[in-house]
Amino acid sequence: MYGLVNQAIMGLVVDNYGSETWEKIRLKAEVRDEFFLSNKIYDDEITFDLVASSSEILGVEPEIILREFGKYWVLKIAKEKYGKLMEYAGQNFMEFMDQLPNFHSRVMLLYPEIIPPEFLKEKIDENSFLLHYYSKRVGLGAFMTGLIEGLTIMYDAKCEIEQLSHEISDISHIVYKVTLV
Ligand code: HEM
Repeated sequence: MYGLVNQAIMGLVVDNYGSETWEKIRLKAEVRDEFFLSNKIYDDEITFDLVASSSEILGVEPEIILREFGKYWVLKIAKEKYGKLMEYAGQNFMEFMDQLPNFHSRVMLLYPEIIPPEFLKEKIDENSFLLHYYSKRVGLGAFMTGLIEGLTIMYDAKCEIEQLSHEISDISHIVYKVTLV
């Protein structure tokens, strides 16, 4: 994945636990890079190793780290670095979700070699929908939950997120039911 992802994991840890803890996490994950270049593509393994090592050093489940990471991504990284991109995608939570299937094609203008997630939104009624998340990577479901939670905080909306299914074949396919409450 592009270095901005690892950069953000480092930011999440440093902001909350300080640089010494980050150093421990980095060394335990056997990651040589002391910093990451946002435009360089790094092996996905580095990202997964950093999450696993954060989980061990901080003593919390990897799913919790990924979920917090999702929130941090929306509320800190996207807000501070990609404000315009986010603004264009919607004035409220539902509008943003309608745009989500096209969102990473705009991200691709900045990061052309991205291997993007794919989304399909199916309306159930005015307040609820199914969100299909397709990925060539397995293990980022909790990141997705955190991203949606971050978006509800950003738009001052309240919602329930339920994972209905997860199928893994040559790609991973997770279905969430999202209900505004
Ligand atoms: C300004 C905001 C955003 C930017 C710049 C961005 C950019 C990226 C980048 C660079 C990656 C790594 C993929 C790669 O390098 O191959 C990624 C992955 C991902 N993004 Fe975004 N993204 C943004 C917002 C979002 C939002 C709002 C969501 C969902 C609600 C989302 C869902 C994901 C997921 C689930 C992945 C994991 C990739 C996978 O499943 O294979 N992103 N994004």
